[in-house]
Amino acid sequence: MLKFEFSKYMDSFINKKEYSKLMKRKDEILEKFNDEKMTGWYKQEVSNELLSKIKEVSQNIRHDSDVLLVVGIGGSYMGSYALQQLLCPSFKKDKTEVIYVGTNLSGTYLNEVLDYVEDKEVSVNIISKSGSTLEIKLTYELIKEFMEKKYSEEEAHKRIIVTTNVTSGYLKEEVDEYGYTSFDMPDEIGGRYSIITPAHLLPMAVMNLDIDSFLEGYYEGKKYLDDAYSYAVIRNLMYKEGKYIENYSIYEPKMYYFTEFLKQLFGESEGKDGKGIFPISTVNTRDLHSLGQFLQEGNKIVFETVLKINMKDDLVFNNYSLARLNEIVTSSVMDAHYSGEVPNMIIEIETNNEKSIGEAIMFFMLSAAFSAYLFDVNPFDQPGVEAYKSIMNERIKF
Ligand code: PA5
Repeated sequence: MLKFEFSKYMDSFINKKEYSKLMKRKDEILEKFNDEKMTGWYKQEVSNELLSKIKEVSQNIRHDSDVLLVVGIGGSYMGSYALQQLLCPSFKKDKTEVIYVGTNLSGTYLNEVLDYVEDKEVSVNIISKSGSTLEIKLTYELIKEFMEKKYSEEEAHKRIIVTTNVTSGYLKEEVDEYGYTSFDMPDEIGGRYSIITPAHLLPMAVMNLDIDSFLEGYYEGKKYLDDAYSYAVIRNLMYKEGKYIENYSIYEPKMYYFTEFLKQLFGESEGKDGKGIFPISTVNTRDLHSLGQFLQEGNKIVFETVLKINMKDDLVFNNYSLARLNEIVTSSVMDAHYSGEVPNMIIEIETNNEKSIGEAIMFFMLSAAFSAYLFDVNPFDQPGVEAYKSIMNERIKF
């Protein structure tokens, strides 16, 4: 269950006439999902055949390996990473640990990871839809060398699984040359919308997350389409009021990477043509002691979306459970920020499990796409990320 509530701490900031006008555009905007490319995340379901292959490969990895190294960046890693942080225990290690690499060019980090796995049984999942992203190509080559030294070449190649598009790119050529087990990235689903592709489902299955429940929630999440549209409309109205920054405010640190996922989803989908809302996040209560000052009394360019999640906990002090204390702090902060001219809304995820998170992800993907269309930009491309690449590609040759 997901609840979206915006009236109490938002009402006085909403231009009612503009709200009704934008609300009337819902069907026309939804129509675009049927007409336009890259909407496979909304229209497609994962086939049973693919699910069986994902489960079989993940079981083999869990059987053969102490560690799975996942090599991906942007939309090819952020979703499964956010789910790992949210749904897996923070400290108790699972039988097979899933460690992410390839999100930076830090030799120090990669060396530390390779030192850590030196004496362990290792499998690797290289994920890149284009198959040619610099960070992934480089990390793949370094890890392939490591694996070929650690195992026989044949065994190393058995332990490398590649998720990429089947038609072109460097990784596709490597799959053909070395016969790696591979998964296809569908044409009609772009990186940040790719949560129901093997790019995320395979690492999630290796983490022992219930991918069937996750998918059930994800598909069912379409029932929040109206709420997702309202959320997109409110964001658009905030922008028109000069509130150019959306702060995802959380009180559960395990949600931090979920907010990183949202930052990518919204930032890359709507930040085009000089438009869009800049997404940030605060992790409370920590940030009440730092950025809280700016939010309360600083420049009035921010609105807040509080992401509430109900976690199980049994810690009690003086008749207050920590969950209850968190609730009191949340409503106190919302009252205070509202009085400081910071409009607030709240999205509540009822349970911290695969199904609820699946629903929430569908809600946010719908909102991000609606939101971009309300800004009149294409939600599914990212031409801006090419600018630095063309300069960089002149400077790095390999
Ligand atoms: O959302 C996107 O499309 C991007 O963030 C990509 O996922 C990211 O650039 C990685 O691309 P690739 O999977 O081709 O390596």
